[in-house]
Amino acid sequence: MKGLRKLLYSAAAVFSLLMLAGCGGGDNGKRIIRIGHNQSSEHPTHIALTAFEKYIEANLGNKYEVEVYPSELLGSQTDMVQLTQTGAIDFCVASNAILETFSQNYEIFNLPYLFTSTEAYHAVMDDTEITDKLFKSTAKAGFEAVTWLDAGTRNFYTVKKPVEKPSDLSGMKIRVQQSPTNVEMMRLLGGSAAPMGFGDVYTALQSNIIDGAENNELALTNNGHGDVCKYYSYDMHQMVPDILIGNYNLLEELSQEERMIFEEGFKLVNIVEREEWTNAVETAKEKAEKEQGVQFYYPDAEPFMEACLPLHETILNNNPEIKPIYDAIQEYNDSF
Ligand code: GCU
Repeated sequence: MKGLRKLLYSAAAVFSLLMLAGCGGGDNGKRIIRIGHNQSSEHPTHIALTAFEKYIEANLGNKYEVEVYPSELLGSQTDMVQLTQTGAIDFCVASNAILETFSQNYEIFNLPYLFTSTEAYHAVMDDTEITDKLFKSTAKAGFEAVTWLDAGTRNFYTVKKPVEKPSDLSGMKIRVQQSPTNVEMMRLLGGSAAPMGFGDVYTALQSNIIDGAENNELALTNNGHGDVCKYYSYDMHQMVPDILIGNYNLLEELSQEERMIFEEGFKLVNIVEREEWTNAVETAKEKAEKEQGVQFYYPDAEPFMEACLPLHETILNNNPEIKPIYDAIQEYNDSF
């Protein structure tokens, strides 16, 4: 059954891919800008991209029409990054985690316990001297990052028992994002990593293929994971940003004036998403507790951190190029 669904799904994906590749222009002669993401239409990401759509159409509506596709309608994040690379679609939101497989330097923001506070995390991501080089480093791969989106703090949530210390993860199969850093993180914590796309997690939880997952609070409500997982433990292991990426050729082909307007639009995505985020987390937490019966745990993060910290050295030794960013992050950590 699952095999059949996968086959139908990929046939549908290929079909839509062919359709998309052939038609950048709409009926009215306007250039259609297609943006894909994997969140629901209530999620801050979608609200922010809708603001972008409105902004571009208000300022460049004679030439461009923006279409935002939520809920993996254009495929998983990995699929969407590939579609953005080839120009079959124009933009997509990808977690920093999966970008690591497209450009190794993205490893930096996947490190567990990299930031010591939300303030430091936000300040680093807002510092273009830190992010610019990285964001522009993938031109040869066909895309560029244009802004970042807050995706909160990632924590473990499980079906049968809460995770209160690293040893609770022993024998548990936990879904992680498809990134080597995340797989290694789980190994260090003593659990077993099950890397898979976001859209597959709910079914995997429900059918006991995995014992839990890790994400921000919105995954409980927006994605229904709290229907199955009743224990959410704030070990605070990662703050992994989401990144809006755009097709390189499209960005290069924009006139100077258009590019300026698009840049304003990218800033708007960041501002709107962050404005929505804090509230969305509070609402999700309340809903998870009251309607889904999820219990929240606040374990001591120290033992989790101690288990993960060797990963910093391993990654820096394997990829010394990211050391200057790492050092700049420590300065921000110290200043808050
Ligand atoms: C968060 C993040 C997504 C990501 C997802 C995941 O929801 O915002 O970009 O895809 O986590 O765990 O895969």
